Amino acid sequence: MKKNILSPSLLAVDFSKIGDTLQTLERNNVEYIHLDVMDGIFVPNISFGQPLIKSLRNKTNLIFDTHLMIKDPERYIESFIKAGSDIITIHIESTFFVKDVLQKIRSCGAKAGLSIKPNTKPESVVPYLEYCDMILVMTVEPGFGGQKLIPETLDNIKKIKEIADSSGYNIDIEADGGIDSSNIELVKESGANIIVAGSSVLGKSDITAAIKALGF
Ligand code: DX5
Ligand code: ZN
Repeated sequence: MKKNILSPSLLAVDFSKIGDTLQTLERNNVEYIHLDVMDGIFVPNISFGQPLIKSLRNKTNLIFDTHLMIKDPERYIESFIKAGSDIITIHIESTFFVKDVLQKIRSCGAKAGLSIKPNTKPESVVPYLEYCDMILVMTVEPGFGGQKLIPETLDNIKKIKEIADSSGYNIDIEADGGIDSSNIELVKESGANIIVAGSSVLGKSDITAAIKALGF
């Protein structure tokens, strides 16, 4: 059994207080911070990019779990790793060169993740398992924080878990979108071991209580 890891999404933070918030996370023994990069093309929203990530790198030892929701991510892998990303996840729907990009991420020294949107078939990851350290299953349509988890995506997590287990590779399964105290148990039971939570952690005024409410 893999241990469960919380990866709070920075998207929900009060951006004027990022430094303090990262310290609060570290005090609560959080190990990951999920960084949602959106380009306004692959998803209909723009968030932040390498300069913000770089500016946080010397403020915290948290593992930078970077989720690229950008078209043709092959253009930017090196720069996100230089900025300090430890894990880079790309979308299977975002590039023609999935295998090459995953290999590039690893060859630059980061862990490689592959993500599927809610309507993408879980089986589509099968050709890429040997190049993946993590599969990120979207539990909402990517693009915005604060949405409701789509219940059918739990079946995608279950299927990915089966696929990952039978592959023999050591692959983490991350679930992302709409996760809160009402559904986190279902998400974990479905097979995810890394839990992204934006609104239900950094969107709350008492972050310590919010982390506890999720069972971490
Ligand atoms: C959605 C992002 C998520 C999102 C999570 O496109 O990938 O990481 O910020 O936020 P909540 O937990 O509020 O759904
Ligand atoms: Zn995300």
